[in-house]
Amino acid sequence: MSESSAQCVALAQQLFVPTYLPRAIILERGEGSRVWDRDGRDYIDLAAGIAVNALGHANPLLQKVLSEQAAKLWHTSNVFLSEPPIRLAEALLMTAPFADRVFLCNSGAEANEAAIKLARRHASQQGRDPDHRVILTFRGSFHGRTLATVTATAQPKYQAGFEPLPGGFRYGELNCIDQLDGVMTEDVCAVLVEPIQGEGGVVPCAPGFLAELRLRCDRIGALLILDEIQCGMGRTGKLFAHQWENVRADVVTLAKALGAGFPIGAMLVGPVASKVLDFGSHGTTFGGNPLAAAVALAALREISSAVVLDNVIHREQQFRAGLQQLNKEFELFAEVRGRGLMLGAQLAPAYSGRAAGLLDAAAAERLLLLQAGPDVLRLVPALNITEDETAEGMARLRSAILRWR
Ligand SMILES: Cc1ncc(COP(=O)(O)O)c(C=O)c1O
Repeated sequence: MSESSAQCVALAQQLFVPTYLPRAIILERGEGSRVWDRDGRDYIDLAAGIAVNALGHANPLLQKVLSEQAAKLWHTSNVFLSEPPIRLAEALLMTAPFADRVFLCNSGAEANEAAIKLARRHASQQGRDPDHRVILTFRGSFHGRTLATVTATAQPKYQAGFEPLPGGFRYGELNCIDQLDGVMTEDVCAVLVEPIQGEGGVVPCAPGFLAELRLRCDRIGALLILDEIQCGMGRTGKLFAHQWENVRADVVTLAKALGAGFPIGAMLVGPVASKVLDFGSHGTTFGGNPLAAAVALAALREISSAVVLDNVIHREQQFRAGLQQLNKEFELFAEVRGRGLMLGAQLAPAYSGRAAGLLDAAAAERLLLLQAGPDVLRLVPALNITEDETAEGMARLRSAILRWR
């Protein structure tokens, strides 16, 4: 390419529907938790494609699996079987004792859309009229951008201008058990909740909150649907985030790290509802595509290994110690929340609304970071990030803070 990176950025600005405001960098290749732009600058990547590249960039094992599958069979649709999605479903169910069936799809929104449809169908099969098929979600949640999932997403900023929104959703306050009597009434057919809210600011469900939801779901015959699209697949140091709370889910949705960079989503369903979506009631052309399934199977085996899950815990300690150190020096954070390698550093009131500026400074210091709202820095690196990469990332964050303050 003879044009400059600035020209490429300008071209992107003309070509795409302007739903994003991407950083003016053209990334070209990666290795582990480092990426390089087309001008040869290297970055430490603590964003991992928004909690997706769980095994780092250009992972040699995943490359091998992908190219071997690419030489064999790319796509069959779900009206013909191939082996990779069968093996993936088998492996997912082995690791998910709460589930006995899998629906494979392509993204997080699509997995949640399937779960919403499943909940409504389940309610209809129970003989509930449409007024008794309400799905309860929580303020600050994020469940996707399709019309149903954006309605489930209880944040007005994602919904504005898309009205009329589908009916039958209700919003509660996360971690507010006292309020549940008022919102979790008999007309609720399902509760959809992230064990750790991601986009909403890295806000974990308080200990006991999921258990309380489980109890109340059982009482009114509602399904408990856990959106583990961001917090699942090893990100918290266990394969599923809800395993920390030992709560049984009826449905768990996955995407992001499931394909470690190859697009794939999944809905895992427990016995209560695993046959609700019957022949012809739902579908997707690409879901469980052999290429995606082959990569996801290899990623799942790797992510469930003690080596990767232990690394998550060790690196969490390293990040927390690093953030604490920075806080001692700069008094920057009010709180560090989250678990494993899903950490959110809430900016102190004096720096309120300035996360975006700090992200700009980080990019200038060759560090890829995310925010979760205007006040929270979000760290969701690869689960196999090394000690050295972590240390380098924290050193660059310090430089970024000095540049930004
Ligand atoms: C918790 C959660 N659910 C759903 C989604 C939507 O996933 P996707 O962007 O793959 O549709 C996201 C994406 O950020 C998410 O974090």
